[in-house]
Amino acid sequence: MNESTQNVRIFDTPEVQQFLRVIAGMDNTEGSDRAKAILHRILSDLFKTIDDFDITPDEYWRAIAVLNALGAGTQFGLLSPGLGFDHYLDMRMDAADEAAQRAGGTPRTIEGPLYVAGAPEVHGVGRMDDDPDPDGETMWLTGQVRDIQGAPLAGAQVEVWHANSKGGYSFFDPTQSDYNLRRTIITDAEGRYAVRSTIPSGYGVPPGCATDQVLKALGRHGERPAHIHYFVSAAGYQHLTTQINLAGDPYTYDDFAYATREELVVDGRRIEDVAEIGQRGLDGPFTEVVFDVELTAVDDPSLQTRHARPRAKESNEAASQQAGSAKV
Ligand code: DHB
Ligand code: FE
Repeated sequence: MNESTQNVRIFDTPEVQQFLRVIAGMDNTEGSDRAKAILHRILSDLFKTIDDFDITPDEYWRAIAVLNALGAGTQFGLLSPGLGFDHYLDMRMDAADEAAQRAGGTPRTIEGPLYVAGAPEVHGVGRMDDDPDPDGETMWLTGQVRDIQGAPLAGAQVEVWHANSKGGYSFFDPTQSDYNLRRTIITDAEGRYAVRSTIPSGYGVPPGCATDQVLKALGRHGERPAHIHYFVSAAGYQHLTTQINLAGDPYTYDDFAYATREELVVDGRRIEDVAEIGQRGLDGPFTEVVFDVELTAVDDPSLQTRHARPRAKESNEAASQQAGSAKV
């Protein structure tokens, strides 16, 4: 830390205020008015922060080096939930739903940065554990998709993705096959889905990475509890992005990504009964995780699909943007 404080205040001077307007392009007629207004606000807030905290050139250039490291590692998508942006967007969408009286339904929570488009389809019942995972306990993940009156939704699309017993996600973890632990399940005539998989472990940001350095500077960790991601959609219903957090994990209520919601904490049921084990065609105990989903009816087609964002395999460009954010 460079302790030589500069002890000057220049933010409110006409020169600085005029400089900010020029930087944000407010003295020209080209470009986007919205981009100018937003950049002007953000740059003003940062300039004021530099003034208020007497940020030294050493500190400023160290921050630039951290931003470069985050970019070089395609880690902004990892840091974003850690700094609460993803949850904040959820809070805003919750508030918008409430204001529009789109009440009820299973609560949303963040997507996270590790979705991969194009997972194999399963109709009703199937498996998603393509790779052997001898350290993982067998999991049957099942549930029913319904509307908020409780009527089952047949043919709904349930996309599920989760980590393996080491906390790694296929595609980002080169030791796993392409779509291991990723599936798109179409619900059966009773709106049900059931997939055999393995219980995921919690996930941690790669130790020592730029995201980890930022969190450490805040005295925080980069751990998430064991969790399972969902996208659930059906024509005429609001698209749902959510996750379940498995109860009993040390990080269930200490998630660095702020994704835990009480309604989304699910207790697995360990099944040791020999008859039930046999019925499932297994040869040892397993854990059943049940997650029923309720969707809210909406007319607006834009609410029926997931938000646009760069995602792996959704386009070639997105795939290359994501490829570096590997958790190995
Ligand atoms: C992150 C990783 C996840 O698996 C997730 O669900 C959310 C966030 C992350 O690394 O930021
Ligand atoms: Fe995740």
